[in-house]
Amino acid sequence: MSEANVCVMGLQWGDEGKGKVVDALAEVSQYVVRYCGGANAGHTVVVGGEKFALHLIPCGVFRPEVINVVGNGVVFDPPVGLEEIDGLRSRGVDVGGQNLRISTAAHVVMPWHKAADTHSEQALGGRKIGTTARGIGPCYADKANRSTAIRVGDLTCGESLREKVRLICDGKNKVFAALYGAEPLDADAIADEYAAYGQRLAPMIANTGAVLRRAVAAGDRVLFEGGQGSMLDVDHGTFPFVTSSSVSACGVPAGAGVPPRAVGTVVGLLKAYTTRVGAGPFPTEQDNDTGAYLRDRGKEYGTTTGRPRRCGWLDLFAARYAAELSGTDEVALALLDVLTGLDELKLCTGYRVGDEIVEDFDPMQLGASEPVYETLPGWSDEIGDCQTFADLPGEAKAYVDRVEAVLDRPVGVISVGPDREQTIVHHTNVRGLG
Ligand code: IMP
Repeated sequence: MSEANVCVMGLQWGDEGKGKVVDALAEVSQYVVRYCGGANAGHTVVVGGEKFALHLIPCGVFRPEVINVVGNGVVFDPPVGLEEIDGLRSRGVDVGGQNLRISTAAHVVMPWHKAADTHSEQALGGRKIGTTARGIGPCYADKANRSTAIRVGDLTCGESLREKVRLICDGKNKVFAALYGAEPLDADAIADEYAAYGQRLAPMIANTGAVLRRAVAAGDRVLFEGGQGSMLDVDHGTFPFVTSSSVSACGVPAGAGVPPRAVGTVVGLLKAYTTRVGAGPFPTEQDNDTGAYLRDRGKEYGTTTGRPRRCGWLDLFAARYAAELSGTDEVALALLDVLTGLDELKLCTGYRVGDEIVEDFDPMQLGASEPVYETLPGWSDEIGDCQTFADLPGEAKAYVDRVEAVLDRPVGVISVGPDREQTIVHHTNVRGLG
């Protein structure tokens, strides 16, 4: 069993069910770290039959002994983060300076970022990305731009925060008025509001890179919790229909401030079918009864936006690319129970462009690609009570076997329902999953 630090990240377009696996691994970790994304993420964890949806706070928060870290690679939205903290506290989950550290270097999502996200999507019309409207892209754009960025550490800097906000807001107001005819934002009101957030967040703000490097050096076990999914990675996903950060395991060192070798083991989350929210190519999409069946059984509606997710067959060609990209050691297969009741199941094992079989997966070619399918028989008995691999119907076993063969990686665990107990241990080598 591997004791290494673990990165859990999605092999598809997000919503692979990472929350449950992160929660299980948190039990044997000292640190749980978010390294990418922001409040666009939605991680669902069921604890004691109660359902929690987390957007910014790492999933380790349900384990009192875990230190949760919001790394520098995250874009932090103070009102959303504080609302989440208050909501957790009101349900008896302790969150504060003792178990949550937010990086001074994480960038702050400001009101103009949300406004820009909405305005820009509206202006794009039919070419819109279908973002979560959480201001994610505009905030990362300002991070790259540097002079128009505000970081968490700035929130506690009093008058210098006000000066920065005034300067940036002045520029944003001119652009918004010219491009969208928008009303100006009130810089001083924003400065007051965000300084107040800074005061509340102050006990949790820290130099998290130093905290994590010390933890890694001391041999503490660190769990890196990916947001979104590899196919939404800004560099390696289906650009431009992606999010704006490095969400694959490749993003961990930069987004957490740890050396690359600190990421010991990579667990890739794979839903037993494919979903996507927002626009962009999706070769195995089933915009038909099958898609509706998957959406209905899988409750495929966005945790963050409530939008119905587009559903389709499992795309193993794309997943293999994502698995290779991050050096995935093993796969956690989620929501296998959702497939119950379908007569036959299709697995995409390759792509064709015209008559040519595609050799290397290329996210830039997706729009022109046709999936190549294998068809497997389905099963009809519910599998939510299956405790072991042997308990699964033969057809479900064959499906899992095929996933392992095509991905050329072991399926470590199989999730057959939302509860912690509804997890079948299969070929895992990761302590905490086995
Ligand atoms: P943004 O991250 O809000 O800019 O959205 C960019 C794209 O990523 C859109 O297609 C979103 O639907 C998608 N997206 C962002 N976060 C998530 C997530 O946590 N799960 C699934 N899709 C996401």
